[in-house]
Amino acid sequence: MKDTILVLGACGQIGTELTLKLRDIYGKKNVIASDIKEGNAELMETGIFEFIDATDKNAISAIIEKYKVTEVYLMAAMLSVVAEKFPDKAWNLNMGSLLNVLELAKEGVVKKVFWPSSIAIFGPTTPRKLTPQTTVMEPTTVYGISKLAGERWCAYYKNKYKVDVRSVRYPGIISWKTKPGGGTTDYAVEIYHEAIANNAYSSFLSENSRLPMMYMDDAIKATIDFMQATEPKEYLSYNIAAMDFTPAEIADSIKKYYPDFKITYSPDFRQQIADTWPESIDDSKAREDWDWKPTFNLAKMTQTMLKNLKEMYIM
Ligand code: SER
Repeated sequence: MKDTILVLGACGQIGTELTLKLRDIYGKKNVIASDIKEGNAELMETGIFEFIDATDKNAISAIIEKYKVTEVYLMAAMLSVVAEKFPDKAWNLNMGSLLNVLELAKEGVVKKVFWPSSIAIFGPTTPRKLTPQTTVMEPTTVYGISKLAGERWCAYYKNKYKVDVRSVRYPGIISWKTKPGGGTTDYAVEIYHEAIANNAYSSFLSENSRLPMMYMDDAIKATIDFMQATEPKEYLSYNIAAMDFTPAEIADSIKKYYPDFKITYSPDFRQQIADTWPESIDDSKAREDWDWKPTFNLAKMTQTMLKNLKEMYIM
């Protein structure tokens, strides 16, 4: 039987590019995009779109039935910064949507589920350098708590009901097509926009605040490779890594193209979130179990980001 895919939260930063890539692979008609709001033109014009609130189980169920959906990618979530402002809404969205999809998978309607976890599941008591796959996890943010609880729910449904649910722990994701919304790692996207628009950037994280990061193409590759891999036996949510850098280091990489680029630092409340997260991630289990390997480092990402954003701003 052919796979028919539903992407919930298709208009977000990762959802947009994931949907476009899935349409390339599985065919336009076989990948249904959905969100509570409309997305960018490319997404809206290349296939079917349905308005769905991911906290509404009946709405998801109706669309699954309508298109005979076999796989769901649940990309709707409230990220770390916004979740601190609206803890109850973040919990309802992040947990409610996941439980809806897990229940539909338990009922056997959906055969496979992807759900993103995050480096935010780690906390101040976690080893910060080369954070292992299995380690202390005591997140202190609402977002991190919801992601860790989500991982446990996924494990519960997998063990108890044999649901095939898979997940990766995304680091900060950097991309140019769709802007991220409300994350602590968003500075690493804003900095490229500001480099082109103003040749200057004021960073809300301090000069030496190191975080794990990944270029979008690698995040999409990890997601789809893992979904296409033989069902893993050992873990359902894997550490993945590509690079780690500080605001000073990303600024230096931009200066190779814009020598006069100026960065200043005015850390705000987001610094406290960053301080509880890992500096770098050990992703050896993903490399061993399903051949994960990133293709972008900081230099290649900076070149790609600046080239694409320049074209976008000129158009
Ligand atoms: N990019 C996310 C955030 O900053 C982390 O997963 O909230």
